[in-house]
Amino acid sequence: MTALPAAAAKAFLPIQIGPLTLRNRFIKSGANEGAATADGLPSKQLAAHHRAMAAGGVAMTTVAYTAVSAMGRSFANQLWLRPEATKHFRAVTDAVHSEGAAASIQITHGGSFTFMRRPGEFAAPSASTGFNEGGALTGTYLRRAMRVSEIEAIAQDFAQAALEARDAGFDAVEIHMGHGYLLSQFLTPSSNRRRDQYGGDAERRARFGALVVERVRDAVGDKLAIVCKMNVVDGHSRGLTAKDAAVTAQVLERAGAQLLVLSGGRNVEAPWVTFGSPFPIAEMRKYAQRFLERVAWRLVDWRTPKGPFKEMYFRDFSNVVRAATKMPLAFIGGVKSVDNIAQAMDDGFDCIVLARVLIHDPEILLKFRSGAATASGCNSCNRCIAQLWAGHGTSCVFNAPIDPVTLQIPAAA
Ligand SMILES: Cc1cc2nc3c(=O)[nH]c(=O)nc-3n(C[C@H](O)[C@H](O)[C@H](O)COP(=O)(O)O)c2cc1C
Repeated sequence: MTALPAAAAKAFLPIQIGPLTLRNRFIKSGANEGAATADGLPSKQLAAHHRAMAAGGVAMTTVAYTAVSAMGRSFANQLWLRPEATKHFRAVTDAVHSEGAAASIQITHGGSFTFMRRPGEFAAPSASTGFNEGGALTGTYLRRAMRVSEIEAIAQDFAQAALEARDAGFDAVEIHMGHGYLLSQFLTPSSNRRRDQYGGDAERRARFGALVVERVRDAVGDKLAIVCKMNVVDGHSRGLTAKDAAVTAQVLERAGAQLLVLSGGRNVEAPWVTFGSPFPIAEMRKYAQRFLERVAWRLVDWRTPKGPFKEMYFRDFSNVVRAATKMPLAFIGGVKSVDNIAQAMDDGFDCIVLARVLIHDPEILLKFRSGAATASGCNSCNRCIAQLWAGHGTSCVFNAPIDPVTLQIPAAA
């Protein structure tokens, strides 16, 4: 057993995020659990997944990838905040609270990133009009510039979703502004060529995100902490840069965001950037249901730069944002060890957000804290993503598979 270095020990101390006191600085990242029932309700497996994360010692666990409206879904069976879902989300938050952790919910609108034909929609809503590379897989070939009235209506949908999250017992909402979803489509210069108040320089491109934060804050006041997940780098040509991200952070802080999770990558243009390591392409192709999907994975493979996995792969970019604001910031991306935790604390980040190491071992923080382990056994193979894609529920292939029955029973049933 080795004692924790002082900087790493700091990560186990409480912190205040807006109205919320977290028992330590660790947050389970919003990572699609693949655990929604066929009609987009939280399942028993979703509750079990987050209970395990809470029992493993994170301060807060994030239920992922929940749409703010039916039209905001990227997948037909995506979790979707609506009154019928409240009691099932409540079963999830009760499970998390029973283990002493807080519960957050990631809320998102897919914009043009959608794999479903949304009723009556031939061109998916986005910042600007153009070809829709992602939606092309399922027949939504175009994206179109949203009207200002639609922007305002969708900001209101986020506020309504936050109210429903509050009713379901969540302690925080994480507004997804990264990875290529609708708010990210506004932040990124290549997808936002608008000439109105929502387009132009980095400050103007962040206005839709800021409007959403303001509407959510107006709706929930100090009942929920307001977290935003945003990109510090997109990772493709004419994508958002760390300098842009520093401006975004300042705009979001002024709008009322209380914690920013600093991520990167774009689902269509540069998905590998989010993970710092390639996808298991052969496995993704095996599980693909359509010919076009198999072609798309081949394209992703060609575009992915090949090189060794680098721990803390957003560090240089995230430090640019750290220098630009004093507000609470969370480090994410390839935190694998006690040394990485110490580094993030030394760099001045307030929280640490983890996905794959916790999918691999929900108890890894207990082991780090006790000195039983100093590094995760996760090898960043991303086969957990293939499990999700295959409909098996998100899990590490080195652990026992998920019982498929638990994926289809609503959480409160
Ligand atoms: C299986 C899986 C599903 C994911 N789904 C989401 C998601 O729904 N929303 C999101 O913001 N990020 C998602 N991510 C990305 C993670 O939240 C995180 O940003 C990324 O894995 C880097 O963190 P890590 O190195 O600790 O894994 C997912 C990651 C994995 C492995």
